[in-house]
Amino acid sequence: MNEKHKLVVVVGSVREGRFGPVVAAWVAERAREHGGFDVEVVDLADVEIPLSLPALSPRFAGDAYPRPAGMASLTSRLTDADAVILVTPEYNHSYPASLKAAIDWHFTQWTAKPVAFVSYGGAAGGRHAILHLENVLTELHAVTIRESLAFPNYFTGWEDGRPLDPEVPGYAKALLDQLAWWAAALRAARDAVPYPA
Ligand SMILES: Cc1cc2nc3c(=O)[nH]c(=O)nc-3n(C[C@H](O)[C@H](O)[C@H](O)COP(=O)(O)O)c2cc1C
Repeated sequence: MNEKHKLVVVVGSVREGRFGPVVAAWVAERAREHGGFDVEVVDLADVEIPLSLPALSPRFAGDAYPRPAGMASLTSRLTDADAVILVTPEYNHSYPASLKAAIDWHFTQWTAKPVAFVSYGGAAGGRHAILHLENVLTELHAVTIRESLAFPNYFTGWEDGRPLDPEVPGYAKALLDQLAWWAAALRAARDAVPYPA
């Protein structure tokens, strides 16, 4: 039996020339090294995410929610996930519209799942983006992870696809340890009793 947690790492930015895939690849590698996860990376640039939503709410429509065919890979991975890491830049003191749209097209896929955050940006390192995401994910009945990674001024702090600060892998391990703990706890809880959403 495979006891690893299914982890989805989401690349939240879709901007031309974006840095997001570099951060996500590094995070996914740390998660594979950690040993507690089966890791998949979902790049929102590869997903069809219309800004216009159906009339129904995904909260109540369940599997009948009419999503575009090009969103299926994201939806099925979120559905199957035991844990999610959102990799996000900071745009105007928040996170990108691409990530908000991807979140809003789903509801039950987030419920009673642990979600961790890795951000990057200018001076604040994406901290504002994480604060906003914590707020939004709580509305979706997700459990947000206390430890997060924020990379300020990533343009000087990264080289050859990795952060220069030697302390960072230790911070990543702390995040992944907490994520694994919550993934196991919430998986067992979801299996035992339906979440009262
Ligand atoms: C529209 C826009 C707004 C931005 N606003 C901020 C900001 O408020 N704070 C910050 O630290 N960096 C800000 N930045 C810088 C981004 O964090 C940086 O360009 C980062 O590389 C963007 O991620 P991406 O390359 O994956 O798209 C902004 C960038 C863009 C394109």
